[in-house]
Order: sequence, then C-alpha cells, then structure tokens
Amino acid sequence: MRIGVPKESGAGEKRVALVPEIVSKFIKRGLEIVFEAGAGEAASYADKEYESAGAKAGPPFEADLVVKIQKPTLEEVAKLRADGTLVSFLYPLVNVDLVKAIAARGANAIAVDMIPRTTLAQSMDALSSQANLAGYKAVIVAAERLPKFFPMLMTAAGTITPARVLVMGAGVAGLQAIGTAKRLGAVVEATDVRPETKEQVESLGGRFLEVKGVEVKAGAGGYAAEQGEEYKRKQAELISAAIAKADVVITTALIPGKRAPRLVTAEQVRSMRAGSVIVDLAAEQGGNVEGTEAGREVVKNGVTIVGHPNLPGTMAVHSSMLYSRNMEKLLTHLMGKDNAMKWDMSEEIARGCVVVRQGQVVHPKVKEVAGAA
Ligand code: NAI
Repeated sequence: MRIGVPKESGAGEKRVALVPEIVSKFIKRGLEIVFEAGAGEAASYADKEYESAGAKAGPPFEADLVVKIQKPTLEEVAKLRADGTLVSFLYPLVNVDLVKAIAARGANAIAVDMIPRTTLAQSMDALSSQANLAGYKAVIVAAERLPKFFPMLMTAAGTITPARVLVMGAGVAGLQAIGTAKRLGAVVEATDVRPETKEQVESLGGRFLEVKGVEVKAGAGGYAAEQGEEYKRKQAELISAAIAKADVVITTALIPGKRAPRLVTAEQVRSMRAGSVIVDLAAEQGGNVEGTEAGREVVKNGVTIVGHPNLPGTMAVHSSMLYSRNMEKLLTHLMGKDNAMKWDMSEEIARGCVVVRQGQVVHPKVKEVAGAA
C-alpha cells in the first residue's frame, strides 16, 4: 500500500501529517510513502530527511491512502482516487457537505476526531495530542501578552503578587493549561461541568470552582452535555466573580458536533482589569467568549482576547511528531499484517472513526446528520 503525505493547504498551517521518523517505520514494514515536495518544510522537516527515510517525492493524492491533518478542501477531495482513503481531522457532524463530496467521489474517509476516547485508542488520539499542545501554548501566549509577572516575587523593590489564571473547561487542553500556569507560578482556578474533573484540577494544584446544589447532566462517553438553565445561571454567578479577579482567562469548553458554549459575556469581559488577557481555544467553534474573533487578537476595554485558530500549529515540530505517532498507531491498528486496510467494522475503533466507506456514509450518527441536511 502507498501512503501519500500532502503539504497542508490551510492558510498558515505549518504542521505535516507524517514526520520522517514515522515514515521510516512505515517503510520498514513494507509500505511505500510518497510526499509532496516541501510537505514538512514549515515544520522543519526537510525533503532530504524524507528521502533518507525512504520516501519518494510525488503526487500524494494518487496514493491508496492520504494522511492529512486539516480537513481537505473540495479541490483536494476531487484529487482523491475513487478507491482512495483519506485520513484527517474532518469534524463530519458539522462538515456534512464535505462528507457528501467524499462519498460522491466513491472514496473512503476516516475522521481522526471521531476516534473513540477509550484506553485502547489513547495512543491514536490526535484530538488529545493536539489539545495538549494548545493548552500549553495558550498559557505561554497569555504570559507573553500579560504586562505582569506570573509568579510571586520577593524583590528588593517589594513583593509582587502572583498572577491569577482562570481555566474554563478542564479537559485535555484545560488540564495542560492548569499545569503549565502552575509551573509558571500563577494562582490557578478552574471550572468544568463534569464534577469528576475536580480531583484532576486539584491534583495539579488548581482550585476547582464548583456549582453547588444543581443537578448536573452527564454526557455520553465522558464528554460534556449541554446543561440546564439553572446550572448555567449559577455557573455564571460563580464565574463572574472569578473572572473579575483574573489576570488571565483561558477557555477550552467544547461540545462535540455543536457550537462551543458561551462561557464569558461581554459584560464579564468589561469587569476585568485593563491589561488582562483572555485566550479562547474554542475560537474556531464559535468561541466561548463574547467578542472573540477567530483568527484575530482584539482588545476590548483594555482586555486582550486572543482567538488564535491553531495554537498546535505554532509548535509544528512537536505537533507534527505527536500527530504522526498517533497516525502510526491508528493505521497499524486498522491494517492487517499484509499492510492492507481491514475495514473490520465490528471493531470499536474502526466503527468510531470510519465515516465513509466505498462512497457510502457508514457512520450512523453522521448518516443521520447527513440525511437530515
Ligand atoms: P473537550 O475538548 O470536548 O472539552 C473541554 C472541556 O470543556 C471538557 O472537560 C468539558 O467537560 C468542558 N466543558 C464543556 N462545556 C462546558 C461548560 N459549559 N463549562 C465548563 N466546562 C465545559 O474535552 P476533551 O479534552 O476532548 O475531553 C473530553 C472527554 O474525553 C473527557 O472526559 C476526557 O477525560 C476524555 N478523554 C479520554 C481519553 C481516553 O480515555 N483515551 C483521551 C482524552 C480525553
């Protein structure tokens, strides 16, 4: 089987789906790799490293299987082989037209964002590997923009109090943000709709802001569910007080297949001190913060709101490396010893992430959404 590695076409995207380290592993097991010239350049992986690893430069979309990071453009879908397979982030529940275009092509599509969040799939979980980088970088970006120290400092010129960081959403990105802000010496508070995150927040040295006395709706598969009105009102009260005191707010709350929940209102932004910083990791999904502009950094009443669409992409060496390792584990799992895809839909991981098979939308949830669209 031949695997194609395109140069990512998204504006400003520096990552590459397979780095030479993993190319070399695939080649050792008998696969062929074709890379688009310059595919890894922006992530500091030179063409000659791919060649030394055994890959050949050529047209990646003519391969049996194309591994990308960003969802493909319609032009890229048109270049897929009719019997080809695409593996990438796809968010098929919100990109129904794209799913339909891939199906119309007769091809197969595997959405890495649909890999189940199970112990077995942990090493393949690209959402987690990238969220981890985003959580770290959100804190670094905030620290760079904040006109203050993060740690408490006792100097000859007097004592500096530590920065207060509020992390909203304690999933993979949020927990990494909490740990990173803590390591920089900030006082960290965090909130999440899943009460089980309290212990995780506390184990990283953060204080968990708990909404008490309201029923919390549990989501499926460990994800958050949309909460009721009373919960939202109480959470807003608790959060309002924390936001007004915070120097930095980092928001990470997502709900799969839906617009990101609004966690911070314009009024709450106004309650913050001038010079404070908000990093909204949900910017691309509509934003957790009123006033976030995806892809931009805006200043509202002296508060900087960062709506960076792709923080993992700013750390392209490691984000590409971790994504590649995820792909190695995923493809190894989905392929047989003969290096052919097994398409064993009785198996949990394949059932979770195979969205289109031979031109048919096969994922039940995506089928439902695509049918309704
Ligand atoms: P996510 O990116 O979908 O959301 C981030 C966080 O925001 C979540 O913790 C969520 O509960 C929270 N959130 C949603 N709405 C909110 C609101 N209104 N207010 C405050 N917080 C809100 O989450 P992520 O990081 O992708 O993790 C999702 C789930 O998957 C978690 O249960 C996580 O522990 C689990 N997981 C399991 C893995 C495995 O076992 N292989 C790997 C990674 C995650």
